[in-house]
Amino acid sequence: MKGGVVVVTGASGYVGSWLVMKLLREGYTVRATVRDPSNERKIRPLLELPGSDDRLTIWKADLDEEGSFDEVVKGCEGVFHVATPMDFESKDPENEIIKPTVSGMLSIMRSCKEAGTVRRVVFTSSAGTVNVQEHQMPEYDEQSWSDMEFCRRVKMTGWMYFVSKTLAEKAAMEFAEKHGIHFISIVPTLVVGPFVTTTMPPSMITALSLITGNEAHYTILKQVQLVHLDDLCDAHIFLYEHRGAEGRFICSSHERTIYELAKMFRDRYPQYIVPHEFEGIDEKIGRVHFSSKKLTGLGFEFKYSVEDMFDSAIQACLEKQLLPLQTVEQEQEQEQEQQSSEEALKKTVALEASEQRGGNELNEQKIVLA
Ligand SMILES: NC(=O)c1ccc[n+]([C@@H]2O[C@H](COP(=O)([O-])OP(=O)(O)OC[C@H]3O[C@@H](n4cnc5c(N)ncnc54)[C@H](OP(=O)(O)O)[C@@H]3O)[C@@H](O)[C@H]2O)c1
Repeated sequence: MKGGVVVVTGASGYVGSWLVMKLLREGYTVRATVRDPSNERKIRPLLELPGSDDRLTIWKADLDEEGSFDEVVKGCEGVFHVATPMDFESKDPENEIIKPTVSGMLSIMRSCKEAGTVRRVVFTSSAGTVNVQEHQMPEYDEQSWSDMEFCRRVKMTGWMYFVSKTLAEKAAMEFAEKHGIHFISIVPTLVVGPFVTTTMPPSMITALSLITGNEAHYTILKQVQLVHLDDLCDAHIFLYEHRGAEGRFICSSHERTIYELAKMFRDRYPQYIVPHEFEGIDEKIGRVHFSSKKLTGLGFEFKYSVEDMFDSAIQACLEKQLLPLQTVEQEQEQEQEQQSSEEALKKTVALEASEQRGGNELNEQKIVLA
């Protein structure tokens, strides 16, 4: 199994591209699927990966098109299904997000069945399939599923994504059982770490929102669980290769509250302005734990700390000029600008007042003279 021919869908994305890099490093031959192979900005990081010259091929495939993965899956041993539509702003979430995610998943499963060569399918699921429920529990494991009725009723940020991933994972499990395909799903929490893509990865927008001030993402960080991108990709390969791997696996190494994260940010990255208070979030809020016992029980070890995750994420953003070097000085400059404009305003007012007084004095003199 190790070192064979594998497919990675969504290969130009944040997780997909790192996984391709790790698989190439491990000696695999990788068929990477993207929607638009002519998009040079997205493809270039893949073509620059070590080992890409002789062991990487780029294939066009789309979850929206039935049978789109037939050709790429034919003759391969493993499929890592990473691709997913992730537009939280979609105007038509049922047709633009939920339908392609579920039908695309099933289309890939059918391609695997027809190919007859696929020994294992590894699906990158999401924590959004586990704990999106009215009341949070202190701990979650693989037995838990998100509440679809709650998602559709409340329509919280990202609800269509949680629904799409949950329905896709369940549909794939059912298909796999019926047709004898070995299917494993990995459930990552918020993925943080370095990246080879050229644009800001979606999860980095959330993870770094405390320094970019993107308040819409604070609710996701309220009681967040985290995993380093490199650990997550290692877990994909570990489970793909492990004979005893069966079913779902949570992949999450740490958890924090938003207050704990904000403190870490302030201590570790003093160059950035980080909020102290979060409206509507109790300062004494507790952590919510995602148990990775099933994964570590097979012998998998997490390598990275929370500090490692954010150090490398910020470093990658700085190298690609996706983040300012600092916000503290910017704020000081803004304060100084504001102070000087206030002082200038005071001076103008004082000048006008004294001119006015001068005029009045003249008038008074005129009156006396008259
Ligand atoms: N990052 C996280 O924190 C996190 C956490 C939990 C789970 N996950 C899971 O990890 C996987 C990868 O996420 P990511 O963070 O790497 O996001 P990403 O950077 O947005 O990558 C997603 C990829 O999916 C592809 N895609 C979107 N719609 C598609 C369609 N209709 N057909 C084919 N491909 C399509 C995109 O490919 P194009 O290049 O063609 O646009 C993109 O490269 C997802 O399954 C996600 O649910 C991520």
